[in-house]
Amino acid sequence: MALLPILRHPSPMLRRIALPVEDFGPALQMLARDMLQTMYDAPGRGLAGPQVGVLRRIFVMDTGWKEGDRAPVICINPEILGASGRTEAGVEGCLSIPGLPLEVERPAEVTLRWADVDGAVQTRALTGAAARCAQHELDHLNGRLILDLLDEPARQAAAQRLIAMGRG
Ligand code: NI
Repeated sequence: MALLPILRHPSPMLRRIALPVEDFGPALQMLARDMLQTMYDAPGRGLAGPQVGVLRRIFVMDTGWKEGDRAPVICINPEILGASGRTEAGVEGCLSIPGLPLEVERPAEVTLRWADVDGAVQTRALTGAAARCAQHELDHLNGRLILDLLDEPARQAAAQRLIAMGRG
C-alpha cells in the first residue's frame, strides 16, 4: 500500500473529465486500497481519482469514520439515477482545496448506482452526509469543484481567500 500525492487546485488535472474504468483487475484493487489509505491519512471523508492524478471514474468515501467505525465504500463508474427536488445547504471541505470549507447547496437525496471493486453493481438511495459526499466526489470525475457551485459574491470571496493563502 502507498500514500498517493493529492493534487491541489488550481492543478489542471482537477478540471479534466475522467474516463470509465474498464479493467477490474489487480491494479484497480491496489489503486482503491491506496486511495482509501490516502483518504484516511489526509484525513478526509472522500477522494476521487483525478485528485491523485488518475483520470478514471473511481472515488472512495467513508463519511462517518471520524465519529465511529470505518465503513469504506469504493464507487467505480458511478451514476446518479435520480435526485430529490429538495436541496440542502451544507459545508464541504475538499482535500484539493485545503483550508477552505465552503457552503454549497445540493439535492438532499440521490440514488446512486456504481460498480464495486469486483465489478458487482450496487444501487443505493443516499441521504445526509453520504448523499452530499457522493455528489462532491462525482463532481470531481467531471472536472467540477465546490468553487463552481458558489454564487458570484461567494466565488469572489473564495478567490480572495485563496490569493491570501498564496494559492490563487
Ligand atoms: Ni473534493
